[in-house]
Amino acid sequence: MKVGFVGWRGMVGSVLMGRMLEENDFNGIEPQFFTTSNVGGQGPDIGRDIEPLKDAMDIAALAQMDAIISCQGGDYTKAVFADLRASGWQGYWIDAASSLRMADDAIIILDPVNMNVVKEGLAAGVKNFIGGNCTVSLMLMAIGGLFREGLVEWVSAQTYQAASGAGAQNMRELISQMGSIRDAVAPELADPRSNILDIDRKVAEAMRSDSFPTDNFGHALAGSLLPWIDTQLENGQSREEWKGQAETNKILGRSSNPIAIDGTCVRIGAMRCHSQALTIKLNKNLPMAEIEAILGSANDWVDVVPNDRDATLERLTPTAVTGTLKVPVGRLRKLNMGEQYLSAFTVGDQLLWGAAEPLRRMLRILKG
Ligand code: HSE
Repeated sequence: MKVGFVGWRGMVGSVLMGRMLEENDFNGIEPQFFTTSNVGGQGPDIGRDIEPLKDAMDIAALAQMDAIISCQGGDYTKAVFADLRASGWQGYWIDAASSLRMADDAIIILDPVNMNVVKEGLAAGVKNFIGGNCTVSLMLMAIGGLFREGLVEWVSAQTYQAASGAGAQNMRELISQMGSIRDAVAPELADPRSNILDIDRKVAEAMRSDSFPTDNFGHALAGSLLPWIDTQLENGQSREEWKGQAETNKILGRSSNPIAIDGTCVRIGAMRCHSQALTIKLNKNLPMAEIEAILGSANDWVDVVPNDRDATLERLTPTAVTGTLKVPVGRLRKLNMGEQYLSAFTVGDQLLWGAAEPLRRMLRILKG
């Protein structure tokens, strides 16, 4: 199988390359690396000889591939996909961009949750397999068991989304902002007798000043938060909030009978782990032990954390989870609203299950 890779040098692409090497995914395929800027150059080190880089805008070269995995982003997909299909190309297109996700001839891939939908799509001749929005994928990895058992009436998700979801430059900017804050009060911090309210005032001044680094976020994130992610829709939702219901139901193959999902999406100063506080209305009253068993049995990565202070602070934080495939879900308890109202908190690495991992797993499925 000839597999073309586009966007392998960026942040998601680099995570993908790392995971593919760890899992020996290059075995049994003929990889061809493409570039938008360095035609003829050297591709990544995958432990064997590879062809020089080809032009990612060259439709004829792309059309030689049996499958193409793109981490280049939505603008690239928009620029080449239609022409590539119009040229008669019948290969598999796998990407993580939102441009094709909701199309009728595309399946959103998250095989630990929707292998049946992926398999049915393949059997029906679907050729476009698109990674989901990161918050949606991470929510489904965490509570997929409840959906599988048909127990969910609705979900309200309040998110705490990391800088990485906005891009590599945003991660850098978050750290620069943290540094600027610290620098603004370094002498006061060094003096244990300095007044905390003076420190606080100087911090707020620094965060509001024109010299505070905000080129990417447009606002202070460090020491603050941003309760809007992506564009504004006419119904008052952000696009990120809209994706919750639309993509979840598409992943589950139930867009015609959708489960209501809504909430507020918030950017916080974490690096690459998205967290979510979930309120789940169950359609029947189940004992907690049964709920925990259902959650824990859903896939190999979900980790049910006991609703205990020490275990929570040890295992259910971005710091604990970052760089791993584990998807802990904890703070599990019934809310005062009634026995059918379940509270949960989950954390997951946005660059792994939220971006790169479903793509490499789709390639494995295609290899059979
Ligand atoms: N839209 C997500 C975010 C990332 O901004 O965090 C990609 O799904």
